[in-house]
Amino acid sequence: MRHFRTVGARLAIALLVVVAAVLLAVYLIVIPSLEDRLVNSRKDQVATVAEAVVARLNANDPPTDDLAAGFASASNARVTIFDVSSRAPLTLLDIADAGAGGVAGGINDDRVAMRAAQSLTASQGVVTRGGRKYAEAAQPTRDGQNIVLVSNSIEDSLDSVALVEHRLVISALLALVAAFLLGYGGARLFARRIRRLEQAAERIANGRFDEPIVDTSPDELGQLARAFERMRQRLAGLEHARREFIANASHELRTPLFSLGGHLELLVDEDLDDDTRREFLGRMREQVDRLTKLAGELLDLSRLDAGRLRVDRDPVDLAQVSELLLEEFDSYAQGTGHELSRDGVDGSATGLGDQQRILQVGRALVENALRHTPPGTHVLVGASRNGDRVALTVEDDGPGISENAAVQVFERFYRGDTGGRASGSGLGLAIARELAVAMQGEIELSSEPGRTVFTFWLPAASSTSSPMID
Ligand SMILES: Nc1ncnc2c1ncn2[C@@H]1O[C@H](COP(=O)(O)OP(=O)(O)OP(=O)(O)O)[C@@H](O)[C@H]1O
Ligand SMILES: [Mg+2]
Repeated sequence: MRHFRTVGARLAIALLVVVAAVLLAVYLIVIPSLEDRLVNSRKDQVATVAEAVVARLNANDPPTDDLAAGFASASNARVTIFDVSSRAPLTLLDIADAGAGGVAGGINDDRVAMRAAQSLTASQGVVTRGGRKYAEAAQPTRDGQNIVLVSNSIEDSLDSVALVEHRLVISALLALVAAFLLGYGGARLFARRIRRLEQAAERIANGRFDEPIVDTSPDELGQLARAFERMRQRLAGLEHARREFIANASHELRTPLFSLGGHLELLVDEDLDDDTRREFLGRMREQVDRLTKLAGELLDLSRLDAGRLRVDRDPVDLAQVSELLLEEFDSYAQGTGHELSRDGVDGSATGLGDQQRILQVGRALVENALRHTPPGTHVLVGASRNGDRVALTVEDDGPGISENAAVQVFERFYRGDTGGRASGSGLGLAIARELAVAMQGEIELSSEPGRTVFTFWLPAASSTSSPMID
């Protein structure tokens, strides 16, 4: 029973039923019509002979044995001429011995001749005598004195029909077997490929992404397999990224935690003088700040990944943002020995976005320019408008970012070689870029030794997107 539930068996049975129905229809239509045609043509043949004999009798030829025998041998049929002039009983005048199965008795032994005698019109039919079938035609003479009956065996025609029928049955059986084998074999082939896909899906569901799914055929199953393979690769990539992310995040968390733990141990030592104690507390504060920043970044990333980070779309003046950034980082820049200033701010640079998130992106860029460049570097923060976009730019004349590093700086946890300067966790630019995209903007980087520019593009607010008239 279980076998009949497989696609293979169902397809084979369906094919079998269709082929059987077609063959049955052919059988039911072809055989009877073939038989009809052959019998009718034989009836027409004998009717023509009967007509010819009657024509001779109507032309006053005497109804003799010779006349009947002549027609009989010419047409290979049996020709009988009955005399009905004496009315009853009808008598047999003559029987020409051509063909078998002649009428043994009088006219009333043959229903076709009887019908012609009673109706005095031509009559045709098929009669069975001695287990054999005959096509017969009977026709009365004009004066109604004689009935001419011509009969011919149709056994040879029926044999031909039987032969065709026999061959048709054999071909039908062969066609049915072929249909079943083809249907079953073809479906099994498909079923095997489907089972392979099912196993692949099971593997993926169980978290095993290592085995590729290969099916190169161009049909629908091949396309499905390729879609599966793309899904597998994507899931494998995501899984890899997830593992890497957890490993990196825990590593990033461990470092400041170790440092905090170490300093705590040292602080327990009561022999420490005040200066050293203060220095340790200062370092501990740095580590706590680092942990707080990291926790915030990880939270942002998880929200971005889950698509749960809400960003507003308000008009935000980027010139104002650049001013805020300058104020915020002024003392920090003095501490690191950098020169932080504003650059060609265009007062009309109002973009659409979330003020807090725009500030967050700006902070990441300015902080990088101050942290990843040597003291003495100039850092310029500017805002401008270009068509229907506005930009916040952070430019520095530091050593620049190499071509290799430039393609990686936006990756999560990527930290370049900062030449011994303080480094973060490598999440700043990754988050900044994702925030920019969430606000329908983007961040571009162009860098060469002595000039690095990060441009944060945003769509311009509609009130500023109309062309400006000087
Ligand atoms: N203005 C810059 N000049 C030179 N290198 C830079 C500059 N900005 C970024 N980088 C390089 O890109 C790397 C990635 O920057 P990103 O802001 O993502 O991480 P981070 O600053 O190291 O850490 P985080 O920002 O998470 O504290 C930095 O480590 C640094 O090597
Ligand atoms: Mg950074």
